[in-house]
Amino acid sequence: MQIARTIAEMKTFRMKSLGSVGFVPTMGYLHDGHLALVKQARAENSVVVASIFVNPTQFGPTEDFKTYPRDTERDLAMLRKERTDIVFMPTAEEMYPEGFNSWVEVEKVTDRLEGSYRPGHFKGVATVVVKLFNIVEPTRAYLGQKDAQQALVIKKMVADLNMNLEIIVAPTVRESDGLAMSSRNVYLKPQERQAATVLFKALTLARNLRGKGESNTETIRQEMTSLISKEPLAKIEYVSIADAETMEELTEIDKPVLASLAVRIGKTRLIDNVLVSG
Ligand code: PAF
Repeated sequence: MQIARTIAEMKTFRMKSLGSVGFVPTMGYLHDGHLALVKQARAENSVVVASIFVNPTQFGPTEDFKTYPRDTERDLAMLRKERTDIVFMPTAEEMYPEGFNSWVEVEKVTDRLEGSYRPGHFKGVATVVVKLFNIVEPTRAYLGQKDAQQALVIKKMVADLNMNLEIIVAPTVRESDGLAMSSRNVYLKPQERQAATVLFKALTLARNLRGKGESNTETIRQEMTSLISKEPLAKIEYVSIADAETMEELTEIDKPVLASLAVRIGKTRLIDNVLVSG
């Protein structure tokens, strides 16, 4: 496994790569969700590249950039085990040198949900992802469905800007009790970890209500909200039943939709989603 710490090194490795390149962009502190993406990239491409970069520009001023969990040695061991060929791990100075002044903004689909609770977040994500794609020049990039809105934003950007790669979105990987895997789960104290199961319980409730024929989204949102409110450690930011392509809130379910939520468990902000059939 080769490690590129500079953009020049990464470009040299890329030039020497033959065949298709599968790319898994990450912020490190890897878990089985990331590894599922690497495994899929390994199965579908000649060369696998992963990046580890905690991107400062996608964190708000009061968010957890400084405390975001980091363990590079562990990450590298996990990536080596999955037969990753190249790991790109630049510094912030390498990615954003003094005088950096160009930004990518995807409109509309970024207006709501994560976009409205985390102003500037998707501008930071879109910008770093374009930079990573330009540096790595992947044939395919692999993203997790857990960050459903991020995946939509990146797909839209790739389509709008005629970028020459395929975006593949892989299913969310969950713990045995349903909690979606996330690097931020490490923040949860034992009691909070238990409380965090309420996210998937609420999403499962949405699916079950739909399964029983409920199509009114207000009713479903209310039932989900009331379930989460019973958990004393949980504080809801949003509960959404939206069009899976545009993220627009719906009043009736007449096609497959995305049920998603953001909930604070203590100080930790967690997000999750499921697709609900139409
Ligand atoms: O999902 C993430 O880990 C990040 O948002 C990404 C796509 C690596 C960009 O920094």
